Amino acid sequence: MSFVVAIDGLAGTGKGTVTKLIAEEMGLVNIDTGAMYRCITLECINRGIYNIEQKEKIIQIARSVEIKIEHIDGNQEIFLDGKNVSKEIRSKEVSAFVSYVSSIPEVREIMVELQRKIAEGKDVIMEGRDITTVVFPNADVKIYLDAEVEERANRRYKENKEKGIEMTYEETLEAIKKRDYNDIHKPVGALKIADGATIVDTTHMTIEEVKEKIKQIILNKK
Ligand code: DC
Repeated sequence: MSFVVAIDGLAGTGKGTVTKLIAEEMGLVNIDTGAMYRCITLECINRGIYNIEQKEKIIQIARSVEIKIEHIDGNQEIFLDGKNVSKEIRSKEVSAFVSYVSSIPEVREIMVELQRKIAEGKDVIMEGRDITTVVFPNADVKIYLDAEVEERANRRYKENKEKGIEMTYEETLEAIKKRDYNDIHKPVGALKIADGATIVDTTHMTIEEVKEKIKQIILNKK
């Protein structure tokens, strides 16, 4: 029997950072599903596909690539057809196109199946947009992370700066707003608050506070 902690929320709510810390402290396998959609998107861009009209080609890519998530020295490393693309998948170009790629129902179907397979028989903490509603609606713990858009843009702006990704605050805010819209309005797999999910608003919380709050929720369910 596996134990599943499912976390959903918009970009910049702190999902990625908090999930990584909780995974380390509680011995859970961390699965970043956004990184998987980013891999498909990177492969599209590498093959010159920048247009949502080329849907069939995008689905073909989703079917044929191999995505692996490995944990090396406490870091989550993402491999696309054997190549470590952990940094490349965070580029401005990938971030701009990923919400379109991830809105294709067939791509989602392929990813959801892969996500369930990766989690099989393990104790996992999985984060994304549809984990509490589609991938694991019966997860042991379901969390919905929320935060005000300006605060989320501020966090993403600082994060990008540290990673050497050049984007102004205004560009970051615009990109996040666009992505929010797409994430909420997807025909399949749209971000929603799942039945039974605990909502945590992280706007005025530090990462440490968010982590402790979620750990407490998990411990109460274990
Ligand atoms: O969490 P992130 O910003 O790395 O996610 C990248 C994109 O992938 C984002 O636009 C939403 C999408 N996504 C999704 O549709 N479903 C998921 N389970 C995870 C991410």
